[in-house]
Amino acid sequence: MKVTVIGASGGIGQPLSLLLTQNTTLPINELALFDLRLSKGVSTDLSHMTGPTTGIDAISPKKVKGYGKDELSGALENADIVVIVAGIPRKPGMTRDDLFKINGGIMRNLILETMKHARPDCLVAIISNPVNSLVPLAVETMKQDIHQKYAPEKRVFGVTTLDLVRAITFLKESGQENVTQNGNSSNCNNNSNSNSSSKEDIFKDIVVIGGHSGKTILPIIPESTLLKKGLAKGTNTKDYNDFVYKVQFAGDEVVKAKEGMGSATLSMAYSGYMFVSDLINARCNTQNKQAYTSSTTGMSNTIVAYVCLNNNNKGQQLKEKLHNSVDYFSTPVVLQKNTGFVEHLDFDHTLNKLNTHELQLLNKDVLPQLAKDINKGESFVRSSK
Ligand code: NAI
Repeated sequence: MKVTVIGASGGIGQPLSLLLTQNTTLPINELALFDLRLSKGVSTDLSHMTGPTTGIDAISPKKVKGYGKDELSGALENADIVVIVAGIPRKPGMTRDDLFKINGGIMRNLILETMKHARPDCLVAIISNPVNSLVPLAVETMKQDIHQKYAPEKRVFGVTTLDLVRAITFLKESGQENVTQNGNSSNCNNNSNSNSSSKEDIFKDIVVIGGHSGKTILPIIPESTLLKKGLAKGTNTKDYNDFVYKVQFAGDEVVKAKEGMGSATLSMAYSGYMFVSDLINARCNTQNKQAYTSSTTGMSNTIVAYVCLNNNNKGQQLKEKLHNSVDYFSTPVVLQKNTGFVEHLDFDHTLNKLNTHELQLLNKDVLPQLAKDINKGESFVRSSK
């Protein structure tokens, strides 16, 4: 499998690439690193590590290749998975509009190049912000090419994994429970159905839905888990509200702590690595016909991602439940084995179980802002025609 990281020399791109080289079980034939600057330096640096000496199929140095600023086509050539982390991060005082103006143009160009050079069935993982608008922008850009063989709605993913990672981390910190995260990293060569996670694992049913900015981020934690963590006697208490706020605005906390010199990079690289591993595993299961257990959700073949809802009946059903107000939403997504495409959306255990307070947050805070963000991304493409 060829995995291309675009924006590979940045604060996220470098540690993300490092993590991808260190997992000996991922079947990566080539890790292609592209950036406008330093990508050859980063790939040379990475190529001096053999990686873990144990484990089969360890990635060897020659499999990491850097592409200079005029070599985007080579970096994308026949890529199976394209991870886009290029663009600028938020700085203090910058609005998401400011960010969108710059990153929107970058994303559109990168998607056009991806369509020209990557495999027609490639999966695209978008990390660059604002995810809420850039994913619709990417899908709309792809849809303009009527020759697309595989539906963009099924293969463009906004990476919201960091929200889930943060929710689980902050919950763990908030009480005395000593429970391990459901984090079984799975792989293609894993012949078991990898269901070794404990049924008692209280972090099992945590998801984060909605979008990927501020109040559009909505963590959904089972009442039983909240009670166990001593967090709430209900979901409208100060402790609970503080927890939700912390998850929603954790990105700001990092920007502030880094004194404006960057946003979350290491935690994002870790989350991005887990997400990309899931995509690789979903696609490579063609070889062993196994289900895989997501390293982030702990669920079989299921990840959480921000995706287009116009992809199948389940997407349409979810859209109706959201009053037809948005075409994109972050939700558990079941991936097809063999392709890694979106098979269907799995919202039965989340949206169907929201309590009154969560429904209020969804209707008041999440949907109106998300609708505006989506419109911004789609309008950008319409006005670029
Ligand atoms: P950074 O500035 O350190 O790195 C960005 C890299 O992109 C730079 O190396 C730059 O040269 C490169 N780049 C810019 N334009 C390019 C182009 N046209 N083609 C190829 N490379 C290009 O930024 P950082 O911290 O790595 O963040 C990257 C993006 O990820 C930002 O948009 C940030 O907001 C976003 N982010 C997303 C998160 C998420 O949860 N999805 C979390 C944290 C950040």
